[in-house]
Amino acid sequence: MSDAFDFEGRQVPIRDGDTVASALYRDGVRTFNRSHKSHRRRGLYCMTGDCPNCLINVDGTPAVRSCCTPARPGMTVKRETGRPSAEVDLLAINDYLHALMPVGFYHKAFIKPRFSWPLFEKVVRKSTGLGALPVEHAPAPKPARHLHPETLVIGAGVAGLAAAAAAAGRGDSVVLCDEHAVGEKVAPGPARGRIEALSAEVCADERVQVFERAVAIGVYEGGLVPIVAPDELLQVHPGRIIVATGAVEAHAVFDGSDVPGVFLARGAARLAGVHGIAPGKRAVVLATTREGIDHLETLRDSGVEIVAALVPTDLAARVPDGVEVLAGATLVRVRGRKQVRSVQVQTASSGERRISCDTVVAALGMSPRDGLLRMGAELAPVGAGEVIDPGCSLEEAEESGARAGRGEAGADAAAPATVLPDVPKRGYVCLCEDVRTEDLEKAFEEGFRSSQILKRYTTATMGPCQGAMCGHLLAAFVQKRTGSAVQGARTTPRPPARTVTLEHLAGAAHELVEKRGALHERHLEMGAKLARSGAWFRPYNYGDWKAEYRAGRRWGSF
Ligand code: FES
Repeated sequence: MSDAFDFEGRQVPIRDGDTVASALYRDGVRTFNRSHKSHRRRGLYCMTGDCPNCLINVDGTPAVRSCCTPARPGMTVKRETGRPSAEVDLLAINDYLHALMPVGFYHKAFIKPRFSWPLFEKVVRKSTGLGALPVEHAPAPKPARHLHPETLVIGAGVAGLAAAAAAAGRGDSVVLCDEHAVGEKVAPGPARGRIEALSAEVCADERVQVFERAVAIGVYEGGLVPIVAPDELLQVHPGRIIVATGAVEAHAVFDGSDVPGVFLARGAARLAGVHGIAPGKRAVVLATTREGIDHLETLRDSGVEIVAALVPTDLAARVPDGVEVLAGATLVRVRGRKQVRSVQVQTASSGERRISCDTVVAALGMSPRDGLLRMGAELAPVGAGEVIDPGCSLEEAEESGARAGRGEAGADAAAPATVLPDVPKRGYVCLCEDVRTEDLEKAFEEGFRSSQILKRYTTATMGPCQGAMCGHLLAAFVQKRTGSAVQGARTTPRPPARTVTLEHLAGAAHELVEKRGALHERHLEMGAKLARSGAWFRPYNYGDWKAEYRAGRRWGSF
């Protein structure tokens, strides 16, 4: 079989447009990795690169987002989490031992006697993690280059493309980047059609350079934006930055919401509409948005039977015929360990009820991907589209992008959205670090009451998704309990916004950056011996360091 890759010793066929994740899912793989602490099974969830569920080893590189990685013949793919394997994991017993591993237990357990910690630490290190670092071969050097466009647009959805077109229209040189290929994650429909039309316009404009599969990882001092492209590191020094990274569907948190078979709606629609794969046979849909209900047809076209739709009363009329509508019902829990087996729902008329299904699709609103928007200090980025107005219409996104591109965006465009989601009662808030709502409650009771220290103590938001899934939920939790302002409840966003390999970070290591203070020449005149401190050259001493030390101590004692 030529168009296939090796997956743990067997050949997995590849079809046109497949990612590693879609090819594996079509081939029957449902468990993609095991969770960090409890070793629970994790399966495809967002399909947009925002969660930790599909991380897998590809060609020796651990923790690769398989839903964003194009499948290529001959590649070698394997799961690395789970002992002895992801399918049969003896450490899944951890899931039953929560009482012994409360939040922050590694700060408290095995502290005494002192010799026990180094032993225990080895066990912890072996049983967690996302895979083994490849240390046998030196990493291939990645070339790096500098770009100085007048406008950098991050994100090539409708808003980003409109922004790039408008910026080029006013004569700017533009760099446009997206972590995916343009339009690839959008199911056929009006949005895909608009993206294709705008993309054709932008690509035909010689003032615009388009970089696909190129990930902007942060906004650094002076507005420097490093972009990790497939074969190089781009160091972009733009005149202005437009962030159009969109929004991710709000993380669904309820009892059992992390069981394989639970999908965010855009993820399920991508699997069905882009890759032609039915996410399951029988699905229950939980939707509070029109878009979520619009995905029902896409799912049905792929062969999924929609057995029930849990929707608010005002959206009940939009549910297509042939689907049982449970207006105002709530989903209590998902049952199943290896795969969803059924859901328990609470209805106003008939109380609790069990529905047999193998898939749950959740569309509970949008959560902006605003990490980059919140990073800029000296060169504050401007937002466009869903990143500042989650859930906006196609027309609104395009208009917002065009305004930003023309430089007409108002003050709102520099501020992230401020609406926080409801705080869940049960379930895994942070999928990366296995943090449940109960863990947040316990940490809060212990006195960790601001987002910043709650984050450090529980490690919520500190995993590979960097808070894309859980950041808003953590903020909502703190805001509800403390009554603090929304922005004060959010944690500080820091680079990298997406996971990045060390070889990419080292891409520009050969470049010597030297920064000099205003007194540099004066220091030299006085015989200073300079040494590096980061990028800065600073005086360490002026010859007689002992005399300087003594003088400093004397001054210090005054
Ligand atoms: S399923 Fe790939 S990142 Fe979420």
